[in-house]
Amino acid sequence: MHTETNTEKTLVVGATGALGHLICLALARRGMAVRALTRPSTTPTKEQRLAALAAAGIEIVYGDLFEPASLKEPCCGIDIVISVVSDFYGDQSRLVLAQLPLLEVAKRAGVTTFMPSDYGFHYDDPYFAHEQLYIDKQRVVTAVEESGLDHHFVAAACFSEWYLAHPFLGFDVPNRKAVLFGDGSKPFQTIRMSDIAKLVAAYLQIPRGPAGDDERGRKNGWLDLPGTLVSQRQVLDLYQELLGCSFEVSYLTLARLEEMAKSVEPSQRFQANVGLGFAHGAAVLADPHPFPGIEIGTAEDFIREVVNAQ
Ligand SMILES: NC(=O)c1ccc[n+]([C@@H]2O[C@H](COP(=O)([O-])OP(=O)(O)OC[C@H]3O[C@@H](n4cnc5c(N)ncnc54)[C@H](OP(=O)(O)O)[C@@H]3O)[C@@H](O)[C@H]2O)c1
Repeated sequence: MHTETNTEKTLVVGATGALGHLICLALARRGMAVRALTRPSTTPTKEQRLAALAAAGIEIVYGDLFEPASLKEPCCGIDIVISVVSDFYGDQSRLVLAQLPLLEVAKRAGVTTFMPSDYGFHYDDPYFAHEQLYIDKQRVVTAVEESGLDHHFVAAACFSEWYLAHPFLGFDVPNRKAVLFGDGSKPFQTIRMSDIAKLVAAYLQIPRGPAGDDERGRKNGWLDLPGTLVSQRQVLDLYQELLGCSFEVSYLTLARLEEMAKSVEPSQRFQANVGLGFAHGAAVLADPHPFPGIEIGTAEDFIREVVNAQ
């Protein structure tokens, strides 16, 4: 893996988020110059994360994706824009599409490389074509590809914090309950957020430039991250073994998931799409990028930490 410091300057949009602040810190740890964008509003978590960013020497700037004029100054002098925005409990499509004006502002400011937010899967798969949110995500991917800027789309599959330890996506550990998608036997790919940040930072430490025959070079297109393959049943077995008790288990059958996928309620459709992906064994990335010399945690490590924190 590359060790020389990359002098490109990065703007992270969504820098106070669960993943965004880790990406900022991982880039700074590798000696890269980082500017963190946040909206002026605040919460205790945001304040804590902003303090950690400032302590790491990261410049904090203010802006809002819904106010493109506010993005001009933050994009000045920037080489790489990384978007890590999310609005899970709000209008996700609106925020996804608000990255298009950011792309325009970045391009006009002379930014060379753009990475839109997502960190999940590839959305050009016909599997996702029925859902407006994924159509909007793919619209952003296509716009970035056609922008003339260099681009990297990070696919990380399933965040461990959500898929191994969140009631909405299968495991309610404090209440010893599990919901399995289909029969819970198909493997899915999982990685924790700190490892995503570490790998993204390692990838960006490779300076931009004509890759030629240097196979370590940054390449335009998808950057599939590695992770652990595990099934929901294996996760359940490990929790039960480590905690020494049985979970109350329920199943979302294929028929139920297909019914939920037609719901008008976005969170039901989201859960159904995830569940169908799991049940069909589609929650795995086909072609992970190699990161020699960089260790990442396993699903088992993560589960042990969750249990120890109980
Ligand atoms: N594959 C998976 O399993 C999985 C799971 C979870 C998340 N994700 C993805 O990971 C990415 C990050 O998610 P996260 O959970 O880290 O998000 P998060 O903690 O909810 O943080 C979202 C960030 O977006 C920023 N933001 C929201 N609206 C904005 C706006 N109008 N203008 C500028 N910034 C705005 C917020 O910044 P301020 O409030 O500071 O302005 C915040 O820092 C998203 O793409 C999400 O879809 C994937």
